[in-house]
Amino acid sequence: MASPAGTATSPSPQPSPFAELVKGPSGLDKVVLRGLRNCSAEVCLYGGQVTSWKNDHGEELLFMSSKAIFKPPKAIRGGIPICFPQFGAHGNLEQHGFARNRFWTIDNNPPPLPLNPAIKAFVDLILKPSEEDLKIWPHSFEFRLRIALGPGGDLSLTSRIRNTNTDGRPFSYTFAYHTYFSVSDIRQVVGFSPFNLFSALPQPCEVRVEGLETMDYLDNLKAKERFTEQGDAIVFESEIDKVYLSAPSKIAIIDHEKKRTFVLTKEGLPDAVVWNPWDKKAKAMQDFGDVEYKHMLCVKPAAVERPITLKPGEEWKGRLAISAVPSSYCSGQLDPLKVLQG
Ligand code: BG6
Repeated sequence: MASPAGTATSPSPQPSPFAELVKGPSGLDKVVLRGLRNCSAEVCLYGGQVTSWKNDHGEELLFMSSKAIFKPPKAIRGGIPICFPQFGAHGNLEQHGFARNRFWTIDNNPPPLPLNPAIKAFVDLILKPSEEDLKIWPHSFEFRLRIALGPGGDLSLTSRIRNTNTDGRPFSYTFAYHTYFSVSDIRQVVGFSPFNLFSALPQPCEVRVEGLETMDYLDNLKAKERFTEQGDAIVFESEIDKVYLSAPSKIAIIDHEKKRTFVLTKEGLPDAVVWNPWDKKAKAMQDFGDVEYKHMLCVKPAAVERPITLKPGEEWKGRLAISAVPSSYCSGQLDPLKVLQG
């Protein structure tokens, strides 16, 4: 299926069963992708940002703050903001770059990009720098983003960035898919062990991340100092802001209570950032509810430690595919409560 036609400023939607351009919150244009059964995704042209992804039961899989602001210049708090041309805050560029708060347009004629023929619901977007952007980041580029919803409800984002400088200059950037997942309750519960009622032990965690154990990471909360992660799955009891370096291509987020596992597959993105602001920082954010941190977790496939450099005419590709699969186990560990009940 062709992408729906239209631009951010002069949309001319071509309604189809799979992709439709509609008005979203605050009148922002968004493309609704509809897969088989009830699964869907929504992509806001402001930010080129996925703002919703639902499974075939119509359940929302991404976190979106109830206080998110759907208008420029702020990036929308939730979904999958695109961080480019930088991740983090360095130099004169705004934190996490400007791609997440620019208007993207629908790309009706993208250069060929192989697509599984079973995928009918997708949209191609493009971002090019404006005159104002060139003043803050003096490089000409074409950023093409394909967002696709697979027949099984899997979501994929493929970014292609090309250096279109005509003066022979290379450019370098860092990048992240700042993915906000919706989770049951991120906090590790400390309670009494059924085996030893006199000791308070952590009970089986509702939410854990697998795939990053034993990895080296830079801790943004400790002046980017380098550490090595311990050997167990990652669980959460306080603020976290870590850049895992050369992380594996597959990472899982296991949500015990929701009996759901998110499987992330990344290509071209060596690193993975894990972030949760916890209570104090949550309260300090204007567009984030005070207790919403309990129900979100950012795991962001990224290229942070080593910036990507492109010479004129060169193109880079970075892809994220996410699936949400039912899971009824907790990291392969036995749940003592259930063992006792059995
Ligand atoms: C994380 C950063 O990646 O993004 C945090 O490490 C930051 O420091 C967070 O607070 C959210 O950033 P922003 O710009 O969307 O508020």
